[in-house]
Order: sequence, then structure tokens, then C-alpha cells
Amino acid sequence: QKRPGTGRPTVPLPPEFTTRDAGPFDPPSALTRLGEDGPVHRVTMLDGDPAWIVTSHELARTLLGDPRMSSDRFRSRRVLEKLPAPVRARMTDARARAGSFITMDPPEHTRYRKLLTGQFTVRRMRQLEPRIQRIVDDHLDAMIAAGPGADLVQAFALPVPSLVICELLGVGYGDRGEFQERTGKLLKLDVPVDEVMRLAEELRAFMQGLVRSKRAEPTDDMLSGLIQADPTLTDDELIGMANLLLVAGHETTANMLALGTFALLEHPEQLAALRAEPSSVGGAVEELLRYLSIVHLGVVRTTREEVEIAGEVVPADSTVLVSVPAGNRDPYQYPRPDVLDVTRPRGPHLAFGHGVHQCLGQQLARVEMTVGFTGLLTRLPGLRLAVPAAEVPMRDDMLVYGVHALPITWDA
Ligand code: HEM
Repeated sequence: QKRPGTGRPTVPLPPEFTTRDAGPFDPPSALTRLGEDGPVHRVTMLDGDPAWIVTSHELARTLLGDPRMSSDRFRSRRVLEKLPAPVRARMTDARARAGSFITMDPPEHTRYRKLLTGQFTVRRMRQLEPRIQRIVDDHLDAMIAAGPGADLVQAFALPVPSLVICELLGVGYGDRGEFQERTGKLLKLDVPVDEVMRLAEELRAFMQGLVRSKRAEPTDDMLSGLIQADPTLTDDELIGMANLLLVAGHETTANMLALGTFALLEHPEQLAALRAEPSSVGGAVEELLRYLSIVHLGVVRTTREEVEIAGEVVPADSTVLVSVPAGNRDPYQYPRPDVLDVTRPRGPHLAFGHGVHQCLGQQLARVEMTVGFTGLLTRLPGLRLAVPAAEVPMRDDMLVYGVHALPITWDA
């Protein structure tokens, strides 16, 4: 049984659209072929429902700015009825949904988004940067002390973004081990649905405790800031917002760090260019986001009414998948789209989505990746894979694409 949060139960795409048969960094060939045929395509999902896949970059941006496209996937009875009962119960439980504004539409969405945007200030990002540097340095020190040789996922890519979220939320040092253990388990694919539900409840209790302590004793973190900004926010809303930051910010950044390292190691000329010009790591981060498109099923929307999309009539209540991998390799948007070029002039990409839901944590993610890649490249001389590339276990069966593990080594 698959856990919720993986692509399959809520967006059961046929595997040909998610299996990266053309190489670990390239979109599935079936998706590329769709793109060559036009900007939008009707496909049949494994549950028999139709879905429309949008492959054009320009159309993707137009649709993600279109208020007829709803982010509330569970507004559709049909989608709900197909979920396993415990997942359905959770998805319709007002308490569990409170504050989780990624699945809300304006104007409900607007209130939470504004409150949280007010917390992602330049000042807070500046404050966080040295702490991120510290977290990265500590993990590199530990890897070097135990090395040479490590699984980059367990030793670096997973713990670093998780601790950054601890900083953001103000999780005390004593509680971070518990926090990381819980969240780590939740990311495992082989956990049965019941176990996931239990873990989610435990995490909820943990967040509840955190919210209580911030109400009693506010500190300089984002959760305390939210409480001060709007004292009417309920515990459930605060827990929902905190959980959303965790869900949206942990797995994504972790997979960019690990898959990005893998991609650089497989493109030695790009790695050399980056090493020769360390200040270009910011550009490399943007190019890796575009090239890898880890949100590989795309950004999911449900039509509120009948919509005509590039000549296709899409009925109300239909699933529209705005494909991030296809849009990020659109030849009408990028010259030589399939080439990883860390010196490519910066331009827009779809890795963080677009429109009112565009990733709220993107500046933070950029800092984490910049500091993370810089640390890995400067502190681990001769960094290389410890196994043949074909043996790296890829993860294409979850919402976020990446690697399950990345065995690396370096010169002692
Ligand atoms: C939304 C990608 C890191 C917080 C999104 C969306 C994408 C995305 C594609 C749009 C979803 C949609 O439109 O339905 C990524 C990637 C990341 C990353 C690729 C890492 C490289 C982060 C981090 C945080 C974060 C570090 C915060 C700690 C959020 C939040 C939303 C969001 C709160 C919802 C915004 C809204 O609904 O208004 N992200 N994200 N993300 N992301 Fe990120």
C-alpha cells in the first residue's frame, strides 16, 4: 500500500509519464513526445479519469495565473471518493486542513499567504544565513571526520534542510533529534498508510507543544512572529502553517541538494566551470532547478468551470497537470533546453511554480542550496560517486523526484 503524499493515490499518472527512461536528469520520453505534439494533451490516468497535461512554458505560466484553476484538489467528490478511507478522512477534516493554504484558493489563501510573507523578511533571511552556514559546516565536519565516504542523502541532504526549518520555527536544540526522527520516518516510501497517519498525529502533537510554548514565551522565530502578527490565529491554523513549511521545505530542498550534486558529478565540465568560478554558484542553482525539475508530476490544478485551453475544451472539475519538467525544457523558451549549462543567462523557470502560490520559501531554498553546494565543492576535494552512476537508486515514485541515496567519496 502506498502512503499518501506519493504521486500515485491522488494523481495516478501512468508510469510512462513519471519514469525517467531517457536518463536520471531528463524528462520521461513519453512527456517529451507529448510536448512535440502541442501545448496541451488529454491522457487517461490509471483510475480511468482523464487529465490534461500542459507541456508549454508560456501556457503553464498563463494557467497558473488563471483564477479558474483551483488548488483545492479535494473539492472534487470524484477525487475524494477514490482515496483510501483514512486519507479521505484526513483530507476532509477541518482541523487537519486548517492553515494549510497551499490547497486553498483566494480569498481564503490570501490571508495566510500575507501573514507568512510578512515573516519571510530580508532581515530574517539575513539572520538565518550564518545559521545555515553553521548547520552546513557542522555536517561537513562530521562527514569528514567519519570519512572519506558517506551517503550524501542521510549525512547531509536530509538533515540540513530539516534543521533549517527547526531554526525557522524555533524548535529548541533539545527537541531537534525527536523532530528529525519523526519527519525522517514520514518521508519513507515503505511506511503503510496507518503508520503514516499515526506519525502525522505524533508530529501534530509535537507542533501543538511548540505552539503552546511560543504563545507562553515568544522568541525571535517565525512561529512567534506569526502569533504576534495575528493573535486571532488558532492553534490548528498555526500547526497547519508550521506543517506546511515542513512538508514544502524539507523534502524539496533535500532532493535538490542530493540530485543536484549527482548531476554536477555526471557533468564534470560543468563542475570544473563552477570550481573555477565559485561566485557563479547562484547561477548554477537556478540552472539545476530548471534542468532537474524535481516537482516532476507538475503543479496540480482542478478546473472550477469548463475552460478552453489552447483549443481543448476541458470540463469543470477536471485535473490539469502543469508539467514542470516539460515547461522547463520547452525549446520555445530555452535555447538547447536539454543541456545543463551553469553559465546560462538567468531567466524564469517553473521549478518554484508561478502565480499566487509561487513558492514562498524560494529565497530560503536558494540560500540553502548556495551554501550547501559551495560547502560540498570546497570542503570535499576530489568529490566523486562511490558507485557506478547506474547503481544510484532513483526515486521517481513520490511527489518529489530525486535519489534515495547517493554514495559519495573524496580524497582524504
Ligand atoms: C509552494 C517548489 C522549497 C515553502 C511551492 C510550489 C512549488 C515549490 C513548485 C508551488 C505549488 C503550487 O503552486 O501548487 C519548491 C522547491 C523547493 C522549495 C523546488 C526547493 C528547492 C521551499 C522551502 C519552503 C517552501 C525551503 C519553506 C520553508 C513553500 C510554501 C508553498 C510553496 C509555504 C505554498 C505557497 C502558497 O500556496 O501560496 N514550492 N519549494 N518551499 N513552497 Fe516551496
